[in-house]
Amino acid sequence: MALLSRDDYVRILETCQIKGQDDAILKALRYINLGYAIMLYGPAGNGKTSIASHMLDYISKDYLKIEATEGMTEYHVIGGFHPLSMSGDRELSKKFMYKDGIVARAIQEDKNLLIDEFTRAPSSAYSGLFMLLSLGELPLEHKEEVLRMPENWVLVVTANFGDDGTFKLSSALKRRFIPIMVGYPKRYTEEKLLTEITPELPGNVSKGILDFAEKTRELWSKEKVLPQGLSTDGVIKMARYCELSIREGTDNVTAFTDAAIHQGVIIADETDYLSLQLVQELALDMAKKI
Ligand SMILES: Nc1ncnc2c1ncn2[C@@H]1O[C@H](COP(=O)(O)OP(=O)(O)O)[C@@H](O)[C@H]1O
Ligand SMILES: [Mg+2]
Repeated sequence: MALLSRDDYVRILETCQIKGQDDAILKALRYINLGYAIMLYGPAGNGKTSIASHMLDYISKDYLKIEATEGMTEYHVIGGFHPLSMSGDRELSKKFMYKDGIVARAIQEDKNLLIDEFTRAPSSAYSGLFMLLSLGELPLEHKEEVLRMPENWVLVVTANFGDDGTFKLSSALKRRFIPIMVGYPKRYTEEKLLTEITPELPGNVSKGILDFAEKTRELWSKEKVLPQGLSTDGVIKMARYCELSIREGTDNVTAFTDAAIHQGVIIADETDYLSLQLVQELALDMAKKI
């Protein structure tokens, strides 16, 4: 039987804090219903983690969550002997024998799982997970035990492809997931968000922020001169800063310029002077039109 009904889909969409991503959410929910593991991917700050948590929260509140890191290994994912199990102190070595990793725990406790920032760890960390997704079984060698994937087990991961500090997925591992893109939402979605989040923000400043976002996204996707565009998260941060700063007496142009330069550093390659200069010039240029 399907895990989620159409009513569930509607309720999940209606209660989601992330707006304008209904299409991606709906696709993810359908695949979850079909029993596939989901990989939400796309540029940072567009709601991947929030969407994944929201879906899992709805399906069952007590899911497990881990954020992958560069140093993550099979030990954290599946389990193994704790380094202190080798201790000369017998009490200590007994206390720290074998530790289950997050996937083994999730299966044993029959809890769904979110692996956030999946591509921050190398594919080698996930070889056990790969087996589980391919064969439905997870052998725990040291424990001489084989865990079976629970029925209706939900696994959602979020990923950023090609970002600094991420690993390229092995294609075999990638194939075990359904990749669903969470990109930049439509302009009117963000416009509506800003009227709700920052009701006092002057219309021309709001327009300036959305124009700035649009331009940076073009510079990223078409001209390929920026490593990323301004995210929805960045749009909200700019709007909130401008609203506060203007309320405290700053003029519109200065407030916008400051906020655009702050977010500009985030989206530029901060180690490249020309990249930083490009976003600063864009910020100043756009400020003139306010
Ligand atoms: N479409 C959106 N609607 C509302 N808020 C958004 C949207 N996209 C991003 N945000 C805001 O950005 C924040 C960060 O999103 P997050 O889920 O961490 O993104 P990601 O995991 O893709 O980096 C959210 O808490 C939310 O406040
Ligand atoms: Mg995230």
